Amino acid sequence: MVAPIARDLEAVERVYTETLASAKPHLNRLIEHLNHYKGKRLRPMLLLLSARACGPVVKAHHILGAVVEMIHTATLVHDDVLDEAGTRRHVRTVNAGWGNKTSILLGDYLFTHAFHLTSTTGDARACELIGEATNRVCEGELRQTYESGNLNLTEEDYFDIIDGKTAALTACCCRLGAMYAGADAATIEDLAEYGRLLGRAFQVADDLLDLAGTEAKAGKTLGTDLEQRKMTLPLIRVLDSVPAAEAEQLRTMLAATGNHKLEQLRPALEQTQALSYARRRAEEFAKAAAARLERLSPSTCKDVLLALTKWSVSRES
Ligand code: IPE
Ligand code: IPE
Ligand code: MG
Ligand code: MG
Repeated sequence: MVAPIARDLEAVERVYTETLASAKPHLNRLIEHLNHYKGKRLRPMLLLLSARACGPVVKAHHILGAVVEMIHTATLVHDDVLDEAGTRRHVRTVNAGWGNKTSILLGDYLFTHAFHLTSTTGDARACELIGEATNRVCEGELRQTYESGNLNLTEEDYFDIIDGKTAALTACCCRLGAMYAGADAATIEDLAEYGRLLGRAFQVADDLLDLAGTEAKAGKTLGTDLEQRKMTLPLIRVLDSVPAAEAEQLRTMLAATGNHKLEQLRPALEQTQALSYARRRAEEFAKAAAARLERLSPSTCKDVLLALTKWSVSRES
């Protein structure tokens, strides 16, 4: 899927690595770890594909591709502290290897480098859009933490949380890509909305993986949503679907400490088809995302953006 933007992705990698390269020897091991700590690079891909689907790729795209990946990685380094996760991107998490204090500071280091790097575009619009999206990601993560243990969370609350923590950044990637490629206002809005809907689909699918995926394929610690009492779409659906007395029993079970919650939940998950329901909702968002591409002229990058909508819900990692 990356063929049409392979060289641009390499350019993004160079900016990313050069920006984080540190002369301080005590930081080198951490930076070295980050160099091996590679995920799917979805956010730079979205930015570059949106750009090439609209016009030429310019230097700002390479800079901003590195910026969005840095911000995303910062949120993951912090998220693994919050979720007490041990594996990420198929390797040890920073918190498992260096502890929580180092993780907090390394996440900050990534954020500050991302904002400084954004300023090197010399364009206040980039600073504003990146700042705004990161504010929303942090608001989403804060709200999620605040709501953990709230077993009465509604679907509306859930979508509000994921629009912040995940969809705001994917929307921003597509917006920046289109904008710096010189797209007109309507196309920029179409692509931003594509990014938001894709982000929603992607996070619902992620929440399904957390319940029903395999760690070997996903490359990260799963099951943390139940452990942290984070209510995700399938769980909300179960509680909405069973009779009130059963819902109360399930809430008591979910609130208790200890493991084996998934096993205890399984009969209700099956009876209510809550996993299929969540998958269907993710597919709806993916389809709505695809519809936002309709007005783009035909191109290979448009085809890849379309293929990403299907992949976002069927993925195993
Ligand atoms: C993980 O994002 C966090 C979510 C928004 C679900 P990715 O699945 O894109 O993580 P990496 O970058 O590939 O590791
Ligand atoms: C995504 O949420 C985290 C951010 C968007 C910061 P998750 O907690 O579901 O992500 P994973 O599953 O740990 O990758
Ligand atoms: Mg997590
Ligand atoms: Mg998850």
